Amino acid sequence: MFTLAIYTGSLISTCLMPELRHSIHCFGRDTYFPLAFGVLSIIMLTSTVILVCGKNMYVKKKPENNILTRIFGCIFGNTTEIPSGQGRIYIYNGFDCNVFVQSKSLHVQHQIGPLDMFNVSHTVATQNVSGDVGVVGITIGFETKCSFVSDNYEFNTTLTIIKGKEISYHLTRLNPNIIALNRVGIHDNLVKEKFGNPNLRILVDHTFDYNDNITLADVDHNSFTSYSLSLFRGMNFNAIKTGKYNVFYNGIMLPTPTMDIIPAAFYTITLQRNGNFIGNLFCGL
Ligand SMILES: *[C@@H]1O[C@H](CO)[C@@H](O)[C@H](O)[C@H]1NC(C)=O
Ligand SMILES: *[C@@H]1O[C@H](CO)[C@@H](O)[C@H](O)[C@H]1NC(C)=O
Ligand SMILES: *[C@@H]1O[C@H](CO)[C@@H](O)[C@H](O)[C@H]1NC(C)=O
Ligand SMILES: *[C@@H]1O[C@H](CO)[C@@H](O)[C@H](O)[C@H]1NC(C)=O
Ligand SMILES: *[C@@H]1O[C@H](CO)[C@@H](O)[C@H](O)[C@H]1NC(C)=O
Repeated sequence: MFTLAIYTGSLISTCLMPELRHSIHCFGRDTYFPLAFGVLSIIMLTSTVILVCGKNMYVKKKPENNILTRIFGCIFGNTTEIPSGQGRIYIYNGFDCNVFVQSKSLHVQHQIGPLDMFNVSHTVATQNVSGDVGVVGITIGFETKCSFVSDNYEFNTTLTIIKGKEISYHLTRLNPNIIALNRVGIHDNLVKEKFGNPNLRILVDHTFDYNDNITLADVDHNSFTSYSLSLFRGMNFNAIKTGKYNVFYNGIMLPTPTMDIIPAAFYTITLQRNGNFIGNLFCGL
């Protein structure tokens, strides 16, 4: 279409210009340059004006979201028991790039991959302790590929550790301007539901609307259940039914592989949409 327009244009001008030259006197001049360039300029200006005027009528296509899929191994078994006297921290990277965590107190220097998760267990220090609660400093750094922050951006923050508990932190955007290591609830409440149902929580950033819905479509039973995202507002665990599920967000299937949800397990889905729309699934018992 574009090419056709260009060739048509050049054909018309080739034929039209000599015609104009013969029929119009060139503003009293001998050359026809003012005519040739003048006519072109006027036509160009007119077309620009037409283009700008029609601005509101164009259908602007958003660039298609590039959908990535990653598979996470689910860890089941009794390996997740916290050593006595220690507490455990989980850090979920809510960004589609590598981040670095560094903490002298935790003896941690680690890279967390895009939308990946990292955990560390640590003795609750005797200093800065009130009861079984300790606070440690941590530095979060972003690789250059993280284009939403300036190069080598880092910030310092603190983590709370509770003896015998697991606390999750979600590195995410609280609003367009604030990136934070957001504590997920008071601590992970991994109490098995009395009917042995599995549990699910969903970690989202500020771009998600609590009116949105998450649908779990059971591939074996051809049934589906929709949950409002507001159910996960506190980022707490909610009981779901066992089954093999595909996950849909507002009717769009997420790139997570089919989730095999088994009884009494705890699952975490992180959703983010930084140009890419990604869902990741973590699970543990
Ligand atoms: C986990 O603990 C249960 C008993 O609570 C035991 O039967 C099972 O073998 C243990 N699994 C592993 C992987 O250690
Ligand atoms: C926690 O980290 C250890 C290694 O530091 C790893 O073996 C374990 O699988 C992790 N736990 C979970 C639930 O990811
Ligand atoms: C205890 O916490 C205070 C501030 O909350 C900090 O200045 C101090 O360095 C901490 N001490 C230790 C040993 O971590
Ligand atoms: C973070 O803390 C470290 C020391 O622990 C310091 O060297 C660094 O400059 C701090 N970074 C920021 C951004 O405040
Ligand atoms: C979920 O969202 C989609 C798209 O907004 C909508 O078509 C569908 O009806 C919603 N489902 C429920 C159960 O609210």
